Amino acid sequence: MDKFLVRGGRPLKGKIEIGGAKNSALPCLAATLLTAETVTLHNVPYVKDLITQRRLLEDLGATVLTPELRTHKVTAKNVQLFEAPYHLVKTMRASVLALGPLLARFGQAKVSLPGGCAIGTRPIDLHLKAFEQLGATVSLESGDVVARAPKGRLTGANIAFEKVTVTGTENVMMAASLADGKTIISNAAQEPEIEDLAELLNKMGARIKGAGTPTMEIEGVEALGGAQHTIIPDRIETGTFIVAAAITGGEIEVKGCNPDHIRAVIKELTSAGVDIEELNPSTLLVKRYPLFPTDMQAQYMALMTQAEGTSKITETIFENRFMHASELIRMGADIHISGNTATVSGPRKLAGAPIIASDLRASASLVLAALCASGETLIDRVYHIDRGYETIVRKLRSLGADIERITDNLATDEQGA
Ligand code: UD1
Repeated sequence: MDKFLVRGGRPLKGKIEIGGAKNSALPCLAATLLTAETVTLHNVPYVKDLITQRRLLEDLGATVLTPELRTHKVTAKNVQLFEAPYHLVKTMRASVLALGPLLARFGQAKVSLPGGCAIGTRPIDLHLKAFEQLGATVSLESGDVVARAPKGRLTGANIAFEKVTVTGTENVMMAASLADGKTIISNAAQEPEIEDLAELLNKMGARIKGAGTPTMEIEGVEALGGAQHTIIPDRIETGTFIVAAAITGGEIEVKGCNPDHIRAVIKELTSAGVDIEELNPSTLLVKRYPLFPTDMQAQYMALMTQAEGTSKITETIFENRFMHASELIRMGADIHISGNTATVSGPRKLAGAPIIASDLRASASLVLAALCASGETLIDRVYHIDRGYETIVRKLRSLGADIERITDNLATDEQGA
């Protein structure tokens, strides 16, 4: 089997172009089965799963031309087979996406049950239940699921998914597009890939409204026709390269992406210290945030004791600014220091302990840790904190914190808070 040998430690720098979304190209290719006319898809990524999906279409009897590497011209005029066979389903679960189109156009479809896979059992019961609601009969015949539309055509229905399922939603969108009457899907998946599929189907003549929201309305039509469509950029590949820039401390221009599709990821990464600039609507410039203030390092470390997983914090400004780490460890944090890098594993339950503040921001870190620890924490030498935070006790108390200053110095205005 192939291997990667990686020698790390080099900041990645340069420009890369994002490819088409695998998870959009897969259902879009399946959708070509809905019509006898030619559907041309551009920006189909050249990846293994799509080679498999293309093979499935060809096995069924469709003609697939690739005038260019990433353009697929599919004509599913002479479909002779109506099944996704086991050898394909077992390598790629998304071959179940052939079911909806086959059932809707030909009134029959067969698929081997996907069985287990590396990320769980991943059943397709919700797909099958939805097909039944659209009027199909579904039975298990020697390891294969066989679905049939008794009148040769499916009927529109109200389908409320118990669980949000991406390929399930896509299968129903495709099936309902050729069904008799109206289908309402509630609790639908809302991913950008769903919107992309809806856009293609509508270009083919389908009548789908509400894609990208939890409720979709699909008015079935008699037949669908040919269309041209360009697959959206892959948002997961985009996110992966953003992380590559951040994790190596490099600077990458990520081109041909759609930042709107990964707003939540951008937001999280930005707050974790990644600098992401939108150079234009399809280009992001990513670097590790040069301005993550060293003065926030200690507080961030306290937060990371509560975060799921391992965080690495590198202090590049002050070589000895990890004094708070040993105090956090006394409270139960899992922190290892090596040179100027602290590795924090979380989440850990912190427990109160007598601890000593070593500098201004370290004191803030310890106060934050104490706020989430069980029991009492006594923080000594808080004169450090007084250097930089105005009435911190009063402010925290006003937010509901149980904190008090134990003092023999009367000259403080915090007591009455
Ligand atoms: C799709 C994506 C995959 C992504 C996943 C979640 C494609 C080709 N793949 O997978 O990359 O990780 O969405 O965003 O688009 N479930 C059932 N019964 C069903 C269907 C699903 O119990 O009939 C469960 C699954 O086991 C899982 C959850 O529902 O726990 C969501 O799965 P689903 O959204 O269907 O994932 P996929 O569409 O397979």
